[in-house]
Amino acid sequence: TSAIDRFDFFTIAFDILISIVGSIIVNRLIPILKEKFIKAQLWGNDLNKRNSKEVKIAESQGVLAAGIFLVLMFIMIAVVFSEHLHPASVFPHKKFVEYLAALLSICCMVLLGFADDVLDLRWSVKLLLPLIASLPLLLVYFANYHSTTIILPKPVRPYLGQQWNLGILYYVYMSMVAVFCTNAINILAGVNGLEVGQSIIIAISILIFNLIELQGVCWEEHLFSLYFMIPFVACTFPILIKNWYPAEIFVGDTLCYFAGMTFAVVGIIGHFSKTMLLFFIPQIINFLLSVPQLFHFIPCPRHRLPRLDPELNKLNPSEVEFKKSDLKLLGWLMLRFFSMTKFIRYREYTNNDGERLISTTNFTIINTVLCWFGPLHEETLSRILMLIQIVFGSLLTFFIRYYLVKFFYDS
Ligand code: UD1
Ligand code: MG
Repeated sequence: TSAIDRFDFFTIAFDILISIVGSIIVNRLIPILKEKFIKAQLWGNDLNKRNSKEVKIAESQGVLAAGIFLVLMFIMIAVVFSEHLHPASVFPHKKFVEYLAALLSICCMVLLGFADDVLDLRWSVKLLLPLIASLPLLLVYFANYHSTTIILPKPVRPYLGQQWNLGILYYVYMSMVAVFCTNAINILAGVNGLEVGQSIIIAISILIFNLIELQGVCWEEHLFSLYFMIPFVACTFPILIKNWYPAEIFVGDTLCYFAGMTFAVVGIIGHFSKTMLLFFIPQIINFLLSVPQLFHFIPCPRHRLPRLDPELNKLNPSEVEFKKSDLKLLGWLMLRFFSMTKFIRYREYTNNDGERLISTTNFTIINTVLCWFGPLHEETLSRILMLIQIVFGSLLTFFIRYYLVKFFYDS
């Protein structure tokens, strides 16, 4: 078919309908299952509350959204492909396999995320999980498309040529997209509502992008993405409501991985991974800023989330302290660079034993916001971070994608 037809409108309407039902179910399940999660020792303390020690908050509630999302998607597949069940119709096996591989990757990632919540896996393992979970997807991409060529932007064409065939590197790139998306959301965390809030803003941005592109030539890929994004937003919305300040539940790594993998899947199969990555601009900046701590050039504490000033009931940037002599040259350069660019604040002093010590704010954009505007109330901080996501993630991307792109590409 050459354009979106009546059957597609019917499936979108159906998708919206079951998503609303799914949303209601997730909303009902949370209060019912919360206590069971706590009984199963899946709980955490809300570290930025005055009574943090006394209250147990159910963790991993993202698994409810993910579970219902998967159920909705299984139903959706049946509906989307029902059109082709007629004996006279040719069944689109390729498209069918794409759906299955997409769901398999998401399903794997939810399972691995839940395992992470229960077992608290090591950082190196966390990196590997999405790599493995994205394999089915890459295989399907290989079988269906083969194309690993990228078109170069106009300004560099005289020097580098019209296009490049990246070959195997393209697959490396795609698996890196999956690794990045899942972990980037997880390390921009620690304030009520932040993990799920940013996920929903990215999802709605993708949804809007898909709706615009339904009129374009690649409408089929965008329709595919739309089928995933509508239930995603619906199922995670009740989680946001309950995770927003003051949090009644925590989303867990399950939700971060589930969201990241869902975005990676639609970006890859929908052929818009570059635009999709642009929606992650705040996460990219946060990741680059985190590199010194993630790769241990600078010590990384278990938690980098802000620290509560109990008297004011406001948050300050959290800090990490270490001996100056433990810092290697690269670590020192990174510290100086991010301090000069005002992303972090550090001070040097001598302790009673005459040792030189360094105390620096942790390397996350959450702490950067607090360095600039703090101390802030937790909810205000959440709102600012949501605003950053909307302005620098979504609006900027649409500006780049629909305006600036003219200067770099032909269409
Ligand atoms: C990531 C971050 C870590 C941050 C943590 C917070 C990196 C490398 N890791 O670790 O710095 O502290 O997320 O989620 O950047 N919590 C709150 N309030 C919230 C959300 C979480 O107090 O709004 C606390 C709770 O105790 C909760 C715990 O964080 O139980 C969950 O942390 P977890 O998701 O396991 O941490 P990581 O993802 O490993
Ligand atoms: Mg986490």
